[in-house]
Amino acid sequence: MSKDTLTITDNRTGKTYEIPIEHNTIRATDLRKIRVSEDDFGLMSYDPAFMNTAACKSTITYIDGDKGILEYRGYPIEQLAEQSSYLEVAYLLIYGELPSRERLEWWKYRISRHLFLHNSLVELIQAFRYDAHPMGILISSVAAMSTLYPEARNIDDPAVREKQVWRIIGQIPTIAAFAYRHRIGRPFNLPDNSLSYTANLLYMMDYMNQRDYEVNPVLAKALDVLFILHADHEQNCSTSTMRSVGSSRGDPYCALSAAAAALYGPLHGGANEAVLRMLQEIGTRANVPAFIEKVKKGERLLMGFGHRIYKNYDPRAKIIRKVAYEVFEATEMNPLLEIAVELERIALQDEYFVSRKLYPNVDFYSGLIYQALRFPIEYFPCLFAIPRASGWLAQWQEMLADEEQKITRPRQVYLGPARRDYIPVDQR
Ligand code: SDX
Repeated sequence: MSKDTLTITDNRTGKTYEIPIEHNTIRATDLRKIRVSEDDFGLMSYDPAFMNTAACKSTITYIDGDKGILEYRGYPIEQLAEQSSYLEVAYLLIYGELPSRERLEWWKYRISRHLFLHNSLVELIQAFRYDAHPMGILISSVAAMSTLYPEARNIDDPAVREKQVWRIIGQIPTIAAFAYRHRIGRPFNLPDNSLSYTANLLYMMDYMNQRDYEVNPVLAKALDVLFILHADHEQNCSTSTMRSVGSSRGDPYCALSAAAAALYGPLHGGANEAVLRMLQEIGTRANVPAFIEKVKKGERLLMGFGHRIYKNYDPRAKIIRKVAYEVFEATEMNPLLEIAVELERIALQDEYFVSRKLYPNVDFYSGLIYQALRFPIEYFPCLFAIPRASGWLAQWQEMLADEEQKITRPRQVYLGPARRDYIPVDQR
């Protein structure tokens, strides 16, 4: 009868070890039994960039990279994008279940009470240079919230944690909107809690005292779908950062500021900005083959393509591609879309990309939609950070509640110089 164990023979000693298998994993700490002598530290696993290491157990998001499956708390992303709203999905991620109608109204009301920023935060945003990158402002502002709400350090109190969740989900769009208005030198539009979550964001960014101003409902809905698609994605770089910084048990503002900083990188949430710059650089459809050749020579990355987990089409990219055409009907066709479609057409048939299983990811088309919504390119990573805040917070709370978790402290393989004595400077 097969057993859920791994039998390992150490050929250095001839000894055999039986290691338990649980959830298709072995505990790395079980490897420490494998030693060559009594004073040997024991074996470790070596896994740069955690290509094959599970750092936690989670019940929040499930991804099957080969089948292109993404589910939040068991609900397929396609159904949530079609039938739910971002705030309802944020509730699902945080609390684990879809809310009743009453509970959803309670949740929306709680968030709506936390849209306004503390004046000190408004002054901080105004202190940045006009051309400061909005992600720099967002990362700094979230960290500054730590100084405004010191009670947030009491992370063991569920009521204190819940209030910080409302504050962050409520205020992060306002921070982003104020960063945008600061950049364009326009007065800030105060939040309007009679509008939906995404309509309020568009209003705060766009309103210029027009008498008949109304947020375009097609654009607000498109942004809401994009927010659903960006809300969580299990243990990606920024979420792992949220968990790691949170594991030292500081407040959620410091952890989420660190997570947003991780997201900012062009290989992660900054990719949507990088995709647009790449499309602008290519310039015309006719230039696509030459750019593809540069990619195949390893001179450039095809931004918006590839994924550590998805070795099939990112299910979010499929949905976003559809939303893109809806947005372009409501705005106007984006000339860069033609270049994007041609890049995708070539990449999906070219051996270089097919052999490496490089498909469009969530960032490939989202930037085109944001551009059609007239967001400045450098603003795109903020539009990733806003909805991902709910995923970061859900994962942070799950980490705190997990009795197996401790402060994150990986080991290393030391390959530096052996011990040596100090040499006074006049003898070097
Ligand atoms: C996100 O993890 C998440 O879940 C992230 C995310 C989320 O929701 O949180 O999904 C959001 O970050 C999406 C990814 C956005 N980033 C980009 O679009 C940037 C471009 N993509 C690449 O940088 C890359 O594909 C990564 C970073 C996304 C994944 O990199 P991996 O898993 O480390 O893969 P790799 O670098 O080892 O690449 C394997 C091969 C290499 O070629 P060889 O050395 O084998 O010859 O594929 C090549 C790479 O050079 N390759 C690419 C490529 N991505 C990988 N070649 C050209 N263009 C690319 N985009």
